[in-house]
Amino acid sequence: MHGLLFYGLYEQLTAQGDKVRSLKTAKADKADVDAAIQLLLKLKVDYKEVTGQDYKAGCPPSGTAVSNDRQSENGGEEDTVDPWNVATNSAKGVDYDKLIVRFGSSKIDQELVDRIEKVSGQKPHRFLRRGIFFSHRDMNQVLDAYEKQKSFYLYTGRGPSSQAMHVGHLIPFVFTKWLQDVFDIPLVIQLTDDEKYLWKDLSLEDCHRFAEENAKDIIACGFDVNKTFIFSDLDYMGSSPEFYRNVVKVQKHVTFNQVKGIFGFSDSDCIGKISFPAIQAAPAFSSSFPQIFKGRKDVQCLIPCAIDQDPYFRMTRDVAPRIGYPKPALLHSTFFPALQGAQTKMSASDANSSIFLTDTPKQIKNKVNKHAFSGGKDTIEEHREQGGNPDIDVAFMYLTFFMEDDEQLEKIRQDYTSGILLTGELKKMLIETLQPMITAHQENRKNVTDEMVKQFMTPRPLNFNF
Ligand code: TYM
Repeated sequence: MHGLLFYGLYEQLTAQGDKVRSLKTAKADKADVDAAIQLLLKLKVDYKEVTGQDYKAGCPPSGTAVSNDRQSENGGEEDTVDPWNVATNSAKGVDYDKLIVRFGSSKIDQELVDRIEKVSGQKPHRFLRRGIFFSHRDMNQVLDAYEKQKSFYLYTGRGPSSQAMHVGHLIPFVFTKWLQDVFDIPLVIQLTDDEKYLWKDLSLEDCHRFAEENAKDIIACGFDVNKTFIFSDLDYMGSSPEFYRNVVKVQKHVTFNQVKGIFGFSDSDCIGKISFPAIQAAPAFSSSFPQIFKGRKDVQCLIPCAIDQDPYFRMTRDVAPRIGYPKPALLHSTFFPALQGAQTKMSASDANSSIFLTDTPKQIKNKVNKHAFSGGKDTIEEHREQGGNPDIDVAFMYLTFFMEDDEQLEKIRQDYTSGILLTGELKKMLIETLQPMITAHQENRKNVTDEMVKQFMTPRPLNFNF
């Protein structure tokens, strides 16, 4: 289930076994040999605890398809998906079904979508109807409890690496807003300004400023101030003893070997990075927010995010029972693709790959017309004859995220596939969908004052009784 974690530990153990053997062969100092054996035994205990299997030299952990050179079982390249990189060779994008198997999560199937509809009493959001939120962990458990009047809370976040967010970043927030509305539950939003300082060449002041700027974009999505707490790590960590206590608990229960296995950290990464995952884990525990949950540590957390963030929460779920907390549940989304094609996700660090929430209608039009990868044919004649391929067409993919009407979308798919609809016409539809959406976002953002940001970001009780 925890592929990377298992494999990282397995590799560590194999290396330590080799070390013990070579020390013995070299007739090294007894104290050195004993220390190496002690570490080997400790790793074996860790391995058994995490994998449920005994370590056997030469036998990698079962149930994982992860390998070092990223070759999949069928010999092809495996997709790369982690918090820093998303890459695949396929023009259709990441193979999400394979990812579910590799990450050990569960598919959001029609049965679960129907159940969410039944429990919430609302038509499922288009992201659920269209498989954009495609994978989950323990969502049925959340719904079971909710049906028995046991509430839960939502946790999501943003790493404020720049002033401008792109449309891909909206996906988890738009969906989180819907979840909050239909289930009527508290929401906490973590702005990891500390993370961005550790990873990027930015000053602490800039990261903190970006956090407040990004908070405006998030608030512009329509969150209710009485139900939502947004916090900057740089501010909240220092003001909440309960939050910091949870960070330390997580730090004590995860080894360097484990984070190396999960995140690929190396010996030359700064220690801030190595311990950061504990800070992203802490908001998944309700006792980190005593002002909201009145000290209760058993309120279940549900985390909507794109699947790139899952490594953090595999680790969190692994630790939770060991420190006496419920495991957070998750809902994972697919990636909003880069303009150039679904081989990678839209990323703020590549301006041409992205449509930013600050783009003007003209910039949107130019970017879509110039950069959006087309699944159409080279000439109009060919296109009319053979039709286009919506599965690799970025304009069509973007419409699946933002066009509300299912029938209209299906008609576009059919017309594009049959050649009735040309690439230019499809792009025009996308431009006409994006322009008003982004202009409306900009209008909403203009109305978000510094005072409102302060309100959202002040630790305080929310309108819920726990
Ligand atoms: P960040 O700022 O990279 O991304 C913020 C959220 O947006 C999602 N995301 C995307 N979703 C769809 N398509 C894309 N192209 C795309 N790019 C990013 C991310 O999955 C994320 O949900 N470390 C985190 C911040 C964080 C967080 C959290 C995120 C802290 N706690 C809890 C989710 C849940 C980060 O840097 O996100």
